[in-house]
Amino acid sequence: MQLRKSRALSMENQNIDRPTFVTHLECGKTGTRYQADQLHGLSEAGKPMIVRYDLEGIAAAVNKEELQSRPADLWRYREFLPVRRTENIVSLGEIMTPLIDMPKLQQGTGRLIVKDEGRLPTGSFKARGLCMAVSMAKELGVSKLAMPTNGNAGSAMAAYASRAGMETYIFCPADTPEVNVREIAAQGAKVWRVNGLINDCGKIVGDGKETLDWFDCSTLKEPYRIEGKKTMGLELADQFNWELPDVIFYPTGGGTGLIGMWKAFQELREMGWIEGRLPRMVAVQATGCAPIVKAYEEGTRHAELWQDAHTVAAGIRVPAAIGDFLILDAVRESHGFATAVSDEAIMDARHAAATQEGMLLCPEGAATLAAYQKELTTGRITENESCVLFNCATGLKYPLPSADASIDLNQPIDYHTM
Ligand SMILES: Cc1ncc(COP(=O)(O)O)c(C=O)c1O
Repeated sequence: MQLRKSRALSMENQNIDRPTFVTHLECGKTGTRYQADQLHGLSEAGKPMIVRYDLEGIAAAVNKEELQSRPADLWRYREFLPVRRTENIVSLGEIMTPLIDMPKLQQGTGRLIVKDEGRLPTGSFKARGLCMAVSMAKELGVSKLAMPTNGNAGSAMAAYASRAGMETYIFCPADTPEVNVREIAAQGAKVWRVNGLINDCGKIVGDGKETLDWFDCSTLKEPYRIEGKKTMGLELADQFNWELPDVIFYPTGGGTGLIGMWKAFQELREMGWIEGRLPRMVAVQATGCAPIVKAYEEGTRHAELWQDAHTVAAGIRVPAAIGDFLILDAVRESHGFATAVSDEAIMDARHAAATQEGMLLCPEGAATLAAYQKELTTGRITENESCVLFNCATGLKYPLPSADASIDLNQPIDYHTM
């Protein structure tokens, strides 16, 4: 009886679990192979690890039509993702984010579209990477996570880890937006403000590993956040009916999303699901912290540490990115470029999008609009190209202009002054 019950359960699991296709991991720099289904951080060369799949197997298991008939969320791409067992998925409802046209701010005949990632759990695209990292941590038996963050990644990790019953230790630069620090704490993590930048916070995580035995979930220091962010590329292809836009503007800090999207496009092309020219990837940074732009302009494959980094767009204030070469490779292979915009241009773009299109962007999302406007004038993009801007977080998390007009009901209302 017991045997029959457990056989029935395993049959049931086979029905629930979708087939998975991870074959191995490899070092993003040297290509050295590593076994799947084991806990990995950086490669022996100290570089990010990349997850590889049996793409022929995926193409044989699922087709575009079947995929498009599934619920419109991140898990519709399950065969392209690393989680082996459904029971390990830690989810808070990762919806497919909408594409929103910006007809008033668009120039010429090309479309200008915002992909609004602020609708995801915890209000940012970090949910994509962290739902995957935490699910894989669960699958691989990890129970304690640590991370340096500029805010949104910490919030997403706190939420998913608390849901999975894991402990989290999070370190933020002292001037991280207050709402981010509070949301991290409110979602059950231990959080510290550090009088330094994100790389200083990263060092605390690295140094504490031995004593506190936590798993380092820093951007690109574990392999699965890229896979979660890859769904931005899969989703875009799906939403554009497998004909991708001409240009993608991505606010680039650690660059996981840009790297992940580029990986998605490579995989889809290798499977024959998309053809022709891929989108040009544009890495957008702030003039106060633009290491990738500098390296792009100087023609180098690695970026130097940016000194005295500052910008209103906290999410892209990353003075040194461990995946710099992966960002720069994607930008160059796609025939894109890297560009920097000033804080003033970011705030002007944020105002324009909110008042003319009703789109309250986060500062990082506004940076992509400022870059679009700038690059139309330099001629690096043209008016007939379709451009996608990534709004990576809800604009509601960030300071807004004050609105202090009021009405005193004890006084007559003077409508002429309205
Ligand atoms: C709102 C926002 N935009 C952009 C970024 C940069 O993302 P990435 O690390 O993928 O470059 C971040 C990262 O913290 C962010 O919070």
